[in-house]
Amino acid sequence: MATDHSQYFRTPRPRPIRPPKLHHATFMTMDVDAMVKFYEEVAGLQPVYYAAHAAWLTNDDANHRIALLRLPGVYPPVDKPHLVGLHHTAFEYDSFEGWVDNYLRLRDLGITPTVCLDHGMTMSMYYQDPDGNGVEIQVDVFGDWSLSKEWMWASQEFSEDQIGPQFDPEKLAEAYLAGQGMAEIHERARRGEFMPEQPRTEMVFDDPWPARLAANPELAQPIPFPPAPGA
Ligand SMILES: [Fe+2]
Repeated sequence: MATDHSQYFRTPRPRPIRPPKLHHATFMTMDVDAMVKFYEEVAGLQPVYYAAHAAWLTNDDANHRIALLRLPGVYPPVDKPHLVGLHHTAFEYDSFEGWVDNYLRLRDLGITPTVCLDHGMTMSMYYQDPDGNGVEIQVDVFGDWSLSKEWMWASQEFSEDQIGPQFDPEKLAEAYLAGQGMAEIHERARRGEFMPEQPRTEMVFDDPWPARLAANPELAQPIPFPPAPGA
């Protein structure tokens, strides 16, 4: 006698999920030019489309990774560092040398990170874009996502401290330029040997808006809405 499979079709069951991949982040902004310049300098993103009201930027094969929208009605944030929402986007170097060299290049352009952390699975430098959004530039210290994921999932170290010690990027770069490799530098950073003279006490970012609005009061005005048709 044939088996009756009809129950399979009548009963809701969990099914395997084929997940989509993370593709891009989109920010509302009041100054597309300043944001385009920053993302190009910090992470090599180039505009695929660029206008005064919007831009779409990428630094790999995707058609965009960061999008910027200057939408009508947008106005500056109040107390940006404490707003609920996105804390940072992140970009990863696949080589330690590339990661340190990017720090040195940006430092020479006058762009420095707000805070640097050795998280255990990555060493991370956190910059802030002109609007105050965080941008993490990281290198995976395992050089292998499956290993770094395993470490986050299973290690006692991560369960006890998910942030890790701060480091002064100048001290780290000095060790790099003296010929030390990633493994040694990572170990030293984890021991706190590169701690800044004045570590940050809060993990929220700085608020660029008071100074920005003082320098350019026009930015306080919301982006105007276009005139109604026929007006
Ligand atoms: Fe992150």
